Order: sequence, then C-alpha cells, then structure tokens
Amino acid sequence: DEARAATGSAFSFKEVEAGIDATHHVAEGYDADVLLRWGDAIFPDSPAFDPLNQSAEAQAKQFGYNNDYVGYIPLDGSAKHGLLVVNHEYTNEHLMFAGIVSIVDGKVEVAAADQARVDIEMAAHGGTIVEIINENGKWRPVLDGKLNRRITASTEMLVTGPAAGHDRLKTNADPSGTKVLGTINNCAGGVTPWGTYILAEENFHGYFIGELPEGHAEAANYKRVGVPEGSYQWGNFHDRFDVSKEPNEPNRFGWMVEVDVMDPNSVPKKRTALGRFKHEGAESIVAQDGRVVFYLGDDERFDYVYKFVTAGTYNPDDRAANMDLLDEGTLYVAKFDADGKVTWMPLVHGEGPLTPENGFASQADVVIEARRAGDLLGATKMDRPEDIEPNGVNGKVYVMLTNNTRRTDEQVDAANPRAKNAFGHIIEITEEGGDFAATTGTWEVLLQCGDPSVAEVGATFSTETTKNGWFGMPDNCAVDSAGRLWVSTDGNSPKATGRTDGLWAVDTEGDARATSKLFFRVPVGAEMCGPLFTPDDETAFVAVQHPGDGGDDWEGFGRPSYYEDLSTRWPDFKDDMPVRPAVVVITKQGGGKIAV
Ligand code: FEO
Ligand code: CA
Ligand code: CA
Ligand code: CA
Repeated sequence: DEARAATGSAFSFKEVEAGIDATHHVAEGYDADVLLRWGDAIFPDSPAFDPLNQSAEAQAKQFGYNNDYVGYIPLDGSAKHGLLVVNHEYTNEHLMFAGIVSIVDGKVEVAAADQARVDIEMAAHGGTIVEIINENGKWRPVLDGKLNRRITASTEMLVTGPAAGHDRLKTNADPSGTKVLGTINNCAGGVTPWGTYILAEENFHGYFIGELPEGHAEAANYKRVGVPEGSYQWGNFHDRFDVSKEPNEPNRFGWMVEVDVMDPNSVPKKRTALGRFKHEGAESIVAQDGRVVFYLGDDERFDYVYKFVTAGTYNPDDRAANMDLLDEGTLYVAKFDADGKVTWMPLVHGEGPLTPENGFASQADVVIEARRAGDLLGATKMDRPEDIEPNGVNGKVYVMLTNNTRRTDEQVDAANPRAKNAFGHIIEITEEGGDFAATTGTWEVLLQCGDPSVAEVGATFSTETTKNGWFGMPDNCAVDSAGRLWVSTDGNSPKATGRTDGLWAVDTEGDARATSKLFFRVPVGAEMCGPLFTPDDETAFVAVQHPGDGGDDWEGFGRPSYYEDLSTRWPDFKDDMPVRPAVVVITKQGGGKIAV
C-alpha cells in the first residue's frame, strides 16, 4: 500500500491551492457562480427571503436548507435546459435562526424550539425541483417553470413494494400503512434512466424522540438503527415523531423516495424493495440485459454496501413502462473477500437464514430490517459506505468509504485495511464479465485517503499528487462523460486536515492512477456535496452544504449564530444576511468542456 510513481494526469487544469478562508475557490480559467441559495425564490410568487421573519409558508415556496444531492434531468434532451433536482438534507438551527444560541461553560447551547421554528425546519427539508436554463453561457432558474416543486417533511407520499400496507407501517393517522407524510434527511440520491428523481432517506433516527412502550416488538429493530436519537424537537409538536405516541412511525422512514418530476402533482413513492437503512444515494446504470442496477450505501460505521437489480428491463422508448421498475427486483448485500472477490448476496425471504425462525415472516420483514438480514448473511462491515458510482465508460464501480475511527486493529480486514480509519478510502469494483447485474466480481482499493507526507496515515495517493491534491473523507462522487472520477469530501477542516472540503479530480487509469488534483474548494465550515456534470460535460454543479458551521472546530473558525460575527457570511457577505448553503455552477471561461 505505497504511493505509486505516476505521470500524466488526465486532468490538465491548474490546481487550486488547498487552504481555509471565508469563500470558495475554483481553478484558474473557470467561473463558479452561485445559482440557488437557501431562501431563494423557485416560484413566481415565492416571498422574498427575510431571515428575521421567516415562516413555514414562505420556506415551503423557497429553496430549502443544506443542499446535498444535485441531479439534472434534461428537457427535450438538452444539456442547456432541464430540471435541477436538489436534496435538502437537514437544518442547522444555530445558523438559520437569530437569537437562539448561547455559550454556556464554553459550549454552544441552542434554545428549545417552538412550533413555528419546527415547522420552518420541516419546510426547509426535502427537495427542490426547478427548471434551469443556460442562456449566453450563464445558467438561471426559470421561476415560472411549470414543473417547479418543493417537497418537504410534510408532503404526502405513497408506500409501494413489499412493505406497503404491512402492519409494522400502520399508525393512528394512517391505518392503511401506505400514506406517509414527508421525507427527511435526504442525503444523496439519483436520477433514474427513465428520468425520475430519487431522494435517499439517511439519518432518520435523529428526528424521533420518546420511549417505546415497554416490551414493544420494534425495540431491537430501532436499536439497530439508533431510534430514537432526538437531535430534533419535532416530536414535541408532531406526535408522529414521538415513538411513545406513534411507535411504528420510524418504520416509515429510511427508504428510497422516487418522484415523477414530469408531473408536479405526482405523489412521491417510497420504494420499499430497495430496503430500509441509512440510505446515502442511488446511482444507477442499465445492465447488458436491460435490467437496471442501483448501487446503495448504508452510511454507518460497520454497515453495508448494497445493490438493487430490477426484475424488469428498461424500455428507452416508453417512459410509462418504466415507472414501477423499482417495485420488483432483488436487493443484494456485499461480501468483500480477502482474495479480491466480491459476492452480492440476495436478501430474499426464505433463502438462507431469512426465515420465520429468524423473525422474517415475509419479504416485508426482510426489507424493513435489511441491516439485520445483512448481519445474518455475513456481509462485510464497512467504513461508512457513502456514494457509490457505476462508471459506464470503464465498467468499474467506485465506492466512497468516508471514515471509521472506531475500527480496531482486530477488526481490520482486506476491504477496510486501516484501524482508526480517520480519512477513509475508495474501493473499485469490477463486476464479473463487465455485467453490472452480476452476482460476483472483483475489487481492489483504489485509494487510501489522508496526508501522504505523514507516514503513519498510510495514504496511497500517487507521488505526482501535490500537497494540494490529497484529501480525506470522500463522500460524494461523480463520473463525467469521459469516464473520469471526481470526488467531493465531508470532514476536511482546520483540525482534521488543515484544509476545507472540496472537489478533487482523481485519475483511475494508466500510469496516473491514484493521482488527485484539487479543482474547487468550499468556504470555511462547509462540506462539498453534489457534484454533477451535465451530459455535455460543459457544466459542473456543486452543492456547498452548511457553510460557516464549525462542528468540532467552531472555536476560532466560526461563531454559533450568524448575528454574532460569523467567520463567513458566504455567499452574500451582507450584514443582514446569514451564511447560506447554495448550489454553485461551474463553467469554463469562453465555454467548452470542464476538463479535457
Ligand atoms: Fe449525509 Fe452519508 O452523508
Ligand atoms: Ca453524503
Ligand atoms: Ca454521485
Ligand atoms: Ca455528508
């Protein structure tokens, strides 16, 4: 596991210098323009953003908070006119609301929420669908776009697939077990080959409070996913987020949500065939035989990599024929062996240990407790699986494993080779016969991340990688149409790596393999989400999430509330505007492909 001597990066742009300051930076010769900020209008009648007088009603008509996944769905096949779909993963109350933060004994304390605040938070979650157009080289939102839509933590959704209508999903408000209000903690996602939008429900456990009734049947299930965790106070005002009042509600989250963006009144569908866990994202590719393969990560220390293969095949000539492909198929969980083989093990009721004796009475139980099914099958416990991206050009699959500092020396395995893995790694999978639907394949570690100049870190960037080019904590990634890998990060900070998060271009082929170059970096406190390339590779969209948030490093680098002299007021830099998460659009000056 040593650095490769490397030459000839496939990326010719001049690298950005790694560092930390109040704003974003892109490589020389490119423009990086703010496209949509928290609070921006997405409808003709959206109220102007007024941060000191925000309301849930206004927020539901404005761009949401903490943009994460970014997808592009072309209109009429255009790379210059389409729908931008953006997830709003979570809310940072201390950065959103004035006057709620105090410092007690050196610690940040956030005031208890009232219902007005909670309802704004709920309206700032979910997703945005907004028409965008590129005119004369510049992108703008089309506010009167007929398909523009906000999805929030209150939007009515339909449950479909094996768990739909199951007793374990029934509540007082929904005795049918099929009608759920809202989606939460939508981290990454996907756009399907048939042009629908998928939002992944990741850390849903944080939204639940209360104690389950004594001896409740869901106790072990909820323990496995960390419910209730109580980061949010929604349950004080909405009974469904209090498990003492609605014990089954947590079984209605942790799914993949599919939205038909071509009908602004369509009811989003929670597709339970893809399993219930802390879903990171759902990038997909059409396999040789026409079935569609979705790669799914469960972002938790010691949890699993999954894929879902549809039973039906994709019909490129009939969109309607594809609309329920996600209801039937096979969910697999990955086992990475030391000899370099990966086996995709089916999570199918009645097969192997997934039987009534083990508490799985039907496929509904298997998908509701997908993690426990994976435990029984002996899946490989990974270092927090994040975005997983199939690469149609070289036939590989890239798995971002962000970090896992709790892995001990005894728990090290071939696919998770470092104890106290603070900086994460990237695995490259080659499916058998180049068939993405295959049930076996091979794998190798593409990259162990971290500072290569510190020997004990064990980073494996190539020797061509500069002091700016290395990174830690890979989270999201994208593959451009030339098949090249771009990685964005979550967790680089003054303390962790002496740099902010950003977007790095990573060579995977030939002599330059494992060379990385910094293309874009975020303002202090932010993480880098997205990234996404338009089909013509002439635009890259990136999402700057939670700028100004200090996390563990807030002292000295941020202030806990925007009215108290934050270290950044990106992107407006105005006294009366808080720091705002935003989607940034990157284009090459003078036009052309982002990277050649
Ligand atoms: Fe929301 Fe796994 O990052
Ligand atoms: Ca993520
Ligand atoms: Ca991605
Ligand atoms: Ca993240």
